[in-house]
Amino acid sequence: MRKLFKKTQSAWEPEKLPRHIAIVMDGNGRWAKKRSLPRTAGHAAGAETFRRIATYCKNIGIEYLTVYAFSTENWKRPPEEVEKIMQLLEKYIIEALGKMERDKVKMKFLGDVTVLSPKLKELVAEAEELSKTFDGVQVNVCLNYGSRDEIIRAVKSYAAEQIIESNANTESTKKMEETIGSLTEEKFSKYLYTADIPDPDLIIRPSGEHRVSNFLLWQSAYSEYYFTDALWPDFNEKELDKAIIAYQSRERRYGAI
Ligand code: FPP
Repeated sequence: MRKLFKKTQSAWEPEKLPRHIAIVMDGNGRWAKKRSLPRTAGHAAGAETFRRIATYCKNIGIEYLTVYAFSTENWKRPPEEVEKIMQLLEKYIIEALGKMERDKVKMKFLGDVTVLSPKLKELVAEAEELSKTFDGVQVNVCLNYGSRDEIIRAVKSYAAEQIIESNANTESTKKMEETIGSLTEEKFSKYLYTADIPDPDLIIRPSGEHRVSNFLLWQSAYSEYYFTDALWPDFNEKELDKAIIAYQSRERRYGAI
């Protein structure tokens, strides 16, 4: 009898890897609940998954990895949960500082970090400063990040810069209109947290949720989305492979035909 083989693609093509992968690290709470553990245990497991996936991205040659660690809305969570996430971030940065030189990992934090604890702010600044010239994978951690907030901030800093440059006292309405009229998508992108970072090619959301949740609204205009039911702490290298294979099967047309 002829054997029937299911046709599956088992590997992605190295020459068609996404340059930039972004991930909403979702499902930590449900992962913990399933095990009768506190939600904070889910975040601790999620932080380990992040470490593992960042290493894998570095090893396979992904240039940028962006993760959603804490949103501008996450402050609404119970204080002990917020505290635990901040502690995990501190722990992660301290460990990363020790090995980023060896691994040449460049770290960036996207979001309003001014409101973080003095210790975390210091660690964030140190990690960015120490790694700013490294050319391995660039890991962007979205921390106190909200995409609408990012866009409003960008509009404000653009306007503030124009006013400073043009000496507000002598500026005519006509000149101001010209300045505003000359704003382009490319120029505007430079005022976002992601200035100088290419838009994500692939955005992954685990845990069965199919929402954008205020993540990279501007930058995701032409990103490919991949959803999986796996909860973030269960996400692993195989899951990322599947996401990359799905990405490689898509035809990216950027609005053309
Ligand atoms: C969303 O899952 C997850 C978060 C809001 C926190 C993510 C934080 C970490 C993984 C730890 C720190 C990060 C780093 C980079 C070291 P959820 O809690 O909403 O899960 P649920 O939907 O199942 O409740």
